[in-house]
Amino acid sequence: MKPKSKTVKKLKKLPKKIKKQTILVISDYHAPYNHPDAYEFLKWCKATYKPTEIVCIGDEVDFHDLSFHDSDKELDSSSKELEKAIVELNKLYKIFPVCTVIESNHGSMVLRKAKTNGIPLKAIKSYNEILDAPKTWVWKFDHKINTRLGPIYFCHGKSGAAGRLASNYGMSCIQGHYHEKAQITYISTPEKLMFDAHTGCLADDKSLALGYNKINPRRPIVSLIVVVDGIPQIVPMVLNKKGRWIKP
Ligand SMILES: [Fe+2]
Repeated sequence: MKPKSKTVKKLKKLPKKIKKQTILVISDYHAPYNHPDAYEFLKWCKATYKPTEIVCIGDEVDFHDLSFHDSDKELDSSSKELEKAIVELNKLYKIFPVCTVIESNHGSMVLRKAKTNGIPLKAIKSYNEILDAPKTWVWKFDHKINTRLGPIYFCHGKSGAAGRLASNYGMSCIQGHYHEKAQITYISTPEKLMFDAHTGCLADDKSLALGYNKINPRRPIVSLIVVVDGIPQIVPMVLNKKGRWIKP
């Protein structure tokens, strides 16, 4: 009988099933001014991609009435708005019980307002308390996840220029914040391959709360990013003429 080769022996030692790492990156939900179909879209993404990790990249809540800019008086007061935002966010807590959330310009509005009015940090409630979020939703200034293709750096939004942040940081980067940007740029160096990605958003472009963006000729892209074993992919929420999601 012919002896088995070393290669065959080696292959047999490999685990039968290598676990897939799938990171779902949710962007700029702006509750309660999220897109009316965003929750259904997220449920579909969860069922389709079966994520192993969730990153909410900031602006999970809008805090329109608390803004430093003029707020639209046709909209709710800050307390009513927060009440409605919590209703929307509770749906997310249910489908994504564990989540890393990145601090952001809208999400940190309570803290920013408190700071400008001299309120001590000790007197401020935590994100979890303000938004009725479970302890398993953890807020961080930024975040890093290791993948088979190297580390990915997550932040809310430091540069809208395609490729710039990844070049500056020397690693793959994913950002939100720029609602009209859903893009992936690859950068190759003699040492490694990296990507620089922007997620798009999940906000409702028709909401008066997003009115400040109307003068921008580039319209928001409703989308998110899924990273499978280190490779990013944009998942657009394709809309019909009435702005509603066309479910695949
Ligand atoms: Fe945003």
